[in-house]
Amino acid sequence: MCAKNTYYITTPIYYPSDKLHIGHAYTTTIADCFARFNRLRGKDVYFLTGSDEHGQKIQRIAEEKGVHPKEYVDNIVHSFQALWQRLNISYDGFIRTTDEEHMQLVQKVFQILYDKGDIYKSKYEGLYCTPCESFWLERQAKDGKCPDCGRSVERVEEENYFFRLSKYAQPLLDYYKEHPDFIQPVSRLHEMENFIKSGLEDLCVSRTAVTWGIPVPFNEKHSIYVWFDAVVNYLSALGYLTEEDDLYQKYWPADLHLVGKEIMRFHAIIWPAMLLALDLPLPKTVFGHGWLVFDGEKMSKSKGNVIDPNLLIDEFSADAIRFFLLREITFGSDGNFSRDALIRRINADLANDLGNLIHRTSSMYEKYFPNEIPQLGQEEEPEKEMAKNAKKAIEEYERLLDSFEPHNALEALWTLIRQANKYLDTTAPWTLAKNKDYPRLARVLYTVGEVLRIVSVALWPIMPTSADKIREQLQLGKVSSFEEAKVWNGWEADKRILKAKPLFPRIEVKEDDEEEKEEEAKATAQVETIKEEQIEFDDFLKVHLKVATILSAEKVEGSDKLLRLIADLGTEKRQIVAGIAKAYTPEELVGKQVAVVTNLKPRKIFGLESQAMILAAGDKNELAVLNPEKPVKAGTEIG
Ligand code: MSP
Repeated sequence: MCAKNTYYITTPIYYPSDKLHIGHAYTTTIADCFARFNRLRGKDVYFLTGSDEHGQKIQRIAEEKGVHPKEYVDNIVHSFQALWQRLNISYDGFIRTTDEEHMQLVQKVFQILYDKGDIYKSKYEGLYCTPCESFWLERQAKDGKCPDCGRSVERVEEENYFFRLSKYAQPLLDYYKEHPDFIQPVSRLHEMENFIKSGLEDLCVSRTAVTWGIPVPFNEKHSIYVWFDAVVNYLSALGYLTEEDDLYQKYWPADLHLVGKEIMRFHAIIWPAMLLALDLPLPKTVFGHGWLVFDGEKMSKSKGNVIDPNLLIDEFSADAIRFFLLREITFGSDGNFSRDALIRRINADLANDLGNLIHRTSSMYEKYFPNEIPQLGQEEEPEKEMAKNAKKAIEEYERLLDSFEPHNALEALWTLIRQANKYLDTTAPWTLAKNKDYPRLARVLYTVGEVLRIVSVALWPIMPTSADKIREQLQLGKVSSFEEAKVWNGWEADKRILKAKPLFPRIEVKEDDEEEKEEEAKATAQVETIKEEQIEFDDFLKVHLKVATILSAEKVEGSDKLLRLIADLGTEKRQIVAGIAKAYTPEELVGKQVAVVTNLKPRKIFGLESQAMILAAGDKNELAVLNPEKPVKAGTEIG
């Protein structure tokens, strides 16, 4: 029997209650890396993401804003899709729980389980956390707080439908035993086992107080509980129970549901129990990753510590963010997000290790072989060593990605990059060039190019844009298979590494005290100009101010305010029509030096063209023209 060649991977579907933050982008970026990696290995991948649009939380927000919930979520869902595009997320399907096909399947599933006796009606009395959309028992919610998010829970008393979750407690525990890969990492398996063993109650799966939901098919007074609705997306996206169920036939069961640790219960207990009740195969793996924390706290809008991924992409590029998320955080555990750590990673790993390797080698190609590249010399010990290093790194990389350790996989790849930098240092191409040992020199540069070719293949799932750019420098087309990384001497000998703009410019970091001083200066300036509209210094520079000497002055006929002046600006003379006749006689002005704006567009005043503007202070009758404190050359710049 041949092994299954499909790979179905999902992210959680996100609540469009607000814009996504970097914590959400974390899950999706990792899913994208696994999807791309498996595509490169020739798997037929289906990568699903989407939005979870029903429920009390969305209903309340839309009510507060005074809009229909659908109108509210539509906008936000577009922002999700725009973000995924900017982050280069290569999803194949985007499911919205307001899609017609999805809603129909949710109703069908509800009906099937009801007909089977796995859903029944009863009275619910308990607690509810609206932000998490989860029910809690009195004993679970200590001090009236949600055990997951720590926010206050509400008391709910409703006549509701229940799913016989308790019936599946033992079958689930048995399933976990027989399928050790089902829940990962293993710490989450223990959490799930403990949760079940502490007593699994039947689950309330409808609400009467919530109108923004899918109606229970046989009782429209009830809407289906948002989590029951949400998990069904993994099947509805594949067309399950419709005439067009090719995707379902091809891809189910899912290979990987990637979720955050706080929603593990829904994916490793409730969802599998629903699948058991439906007699459907269970997903191969549910992986519960940790949180991205900010100064030790989970990011959340209410704590005000969320970071907008769009701003990070603007500042650092999508690839740098993707790299950081995958490299910095031990997958499965919580990890701290900080700007300092991000900059450190970019500078050390990307600008220094990888960026320098490319830059040094491309410069040497240009310097030593501006025209023809000579025949390669024989492979010697250092090259054989590099070949071994590359083979080892790629084997490790593949193994570690398969075992959900992207951070270690990247470390393996970076070990190879550092070895290549060291190889350059020890083979010293500059000395080979001095000794005119060109075949050996060509071999050394080629060897680094070969390492970079291999790196570009492995890097593509993590940093697709940068991997493509590296390949352009190596004069290679797009990567088509991971196998390319397992070949040694696969790069053509007549190619060179082309020079290009640095892929990863170093981020300059200001010293703390320098930054503090700057902040202080900014704050002082701000207090002084607090009520004025502020402009940039560049805006100020746009105004050309010069000293002019007035050569002649006369009244403008028909006006008692205007004087016609001829002013000397050093290299030219200009006519100025100025409204200063009430403050100055023409005689007083001749010979005076005044400040003028010289680059205003000329204006016609009383039929005369005014080619500059005199600066003066005060009102019409008591005007005082501004003049330099001592004589200066006509045309001198003011600034
Ligand atoms: N709608 C549900 C999921 C339904 S799946 C059938 C939901 N949505 S969510 O928008 O609140 O969260 C989605 C995912 O984002 C969860 O996996 C959650 O763990 C993840 N994250 C939210 N904040 C996060 C961090 N700060 N760090 C890492 N992941 C985070 O739950």
